Amino acid sequence: MTQHVTSALPADAPDDGSAPREWWRDAVIYQVYPRSFADGNGDGMGDLPGATARLPHLRRLGVDAVWLSPFYASPQADAGYDVADYRAVDPVFGSLPDADDLVREAHALGLRVIVDVVPNHCSDQHEWFKRALREGSGSPARERFHFRAGKGEDGQLPPNDWESVFGGPAWTRVADGAWYLHLFAPEQPDFNWEHPAVHDEFRSILRYWLDLGVDGFRIDVAHGLVKAAGLPDIGHEEQVKLLGKQAVPYFDQDGVHEIYRDWRRILDEYEGERIAVAEAWTPTVERSARYLRAGELHQAFNFEYLTTGWDAAALRAVVDRSLDAMNAVGAPATWVLSNHDVVRHTTRFADGDAARGLRRAKAATLLMLALPGSAYVYQGEELGLPEVTELPDEVRQDPAFFRSTGQDGTRDGCRVPLPWSGERAPFGFGPVEGGPSWLPQPAAWKDLSVEAQEGDPASTLEFYRAALAARRAHPALGAGRDVEWLDAPEGVLSFRRTAPGGSVVCTVNLTAAPVTLPVPGTLLLASAEVTSDGGAATVPADSTVWWAA
Ligand code: GLC
Repeated sequence: MTQHVTSALPADAPDDGSAPREWWRDAVIYQVYPRSFADGNGDGMGDLPGATARLPHLRRLGVDAVWLSPFYASPQADAGYDVADYRAVDPVFGSLPDADDLVREAHALGLRVIVDVVPNHCSDQHEWFKRALREGSGSPARERFHFRAGKGEDGQLPPNDWESVFGGPAWTRVADGAWYLHLFAPEQPDFNWEHPAVHDEFRSILRYWLDLGVDGFRIDVAHGLVKAAGLPDIGHEEQVKLLGKQAVPYFDQDGVHEIYRDWRRILDEYEGERIAVAEAWTPTVERSARYLRAGELHQAFNFEYLTTGWDAAALRAVVDRSLDAMNAVGAPATWVLSNHDVVRHTTRFADGDAARGLRRAKAATLLMLALPGSAYVYQGEELGLPEVTELPDEVRQDPAFFRSTGQDGTRDGCRVPLPWSGERAPFGFGPVEGGPSWLPQPAAWKDLSVEAQEGDPASTLEFYRAALAARRAHPALGAGRDVEWLDAPEGVLSFRRTAPGGSVVCTVNLTAAPVTLPVPGTLLLASAEVTSDGGAATVPADSTVWWAA
């Protein structure tokens, strides 16, 4: 095992020849969902050796970093977000040397590696929780979780009215009658962050992975660690439906910020600009920006952007609000369209017409990649993969699917293993033609594989490669803090991005009809065919164009 703390990456090139660039401010970060990315050993489940072997695809794609969803020892009650041992690799994903190989290989290819850390809860199979159950009420082992007596005459009712994000009560009763809190599945007991041992343990876990050489962390449920004192009732049902839209006593409490100031000090002790990105579902981007104040974290996912529909006015408003909020704290904005928890944007934007969905998805990608800040790409979006909406119930694994009234429970549809090559499933996901994959792939994915798209200039894959290459070649895309909005017809967004060395104009036609506009510069890249008669260009419906200006 190597214990390198110095990144193998070459020093970052300065933006304008003076200040050194902070790599994460405009990085494009690719999310690998390990179980569905690449299966090295043919058991139907993706793994770390499989992912390592596919890193050249990411290098070729042109991203800066990889974020890996959890691969730690876990009973997989929530696809690895239920961690039983934070320092071990689950045998299903490989071994610790495999993790070390992946990090070293990625660094050799010039890619940074971010790993998930899951501090809000662990698995019910974690040693601490097993001990808490064994040692019983009143034991110190129980204090590391939220155990409470129930309400009602015999304590038969949950201690408060909180609902699990996955549906049903957020409490489960154990054999001796006490209840414990789990904001997610019952197999995911919440840690008690009032307890100093929890703080110490996570400091040590962070150092463990930093010592192994990772470049940073994606913090799962970063908004959930601290609960309001006394665990007060909320007073109404439908909490999950309103999540993110209202303040609740178990999310976004002020106390979480102290934890992240502590974690930032640890990150800063290491060379090589190690970073942390918060998965913080908060009611407003201004609340999210609080996680990024000086001395706290580097980035937070922009879920307000992700949840905005294909609507010019709404998109412009969320871009402005995001930039204002992030600029106020000196943090980069982030942009994301898909991840392992939401319906793929190709399908979200389709309104029942798959071709329209893909058109809009490509247009949305160019919009996202032109905005100042850091962008997140979810595995498979570079292939234009749609959501798989017809999975039979018996193959589904999302715990929310099995619990009523919770988060929609359809998260399996965006987690179907990637198609890489060949004519038959699993399309190169695993080493054996006709071999297993933990979720079935649609037969039509034969035409969406990396191999099928490679070299075809009309393919989504080559489009992503061209977009990422252009983003590298033109610092105006991505760098900086602001957009300059230009006049545009209704339903069209047009803005200029400027950096030392040149500017780029980005025009997005969100309407259902072509628009004709004065040409602002030299055509750089378009998500659909643009025609021009010299002075005027016609931009097709649902498309985006970049012009070097
Ligand atoms: C985050 C993860 C999600 C998981 C949940 C509980 O929201 O992205 O996949 O189910 O946390 O850990």
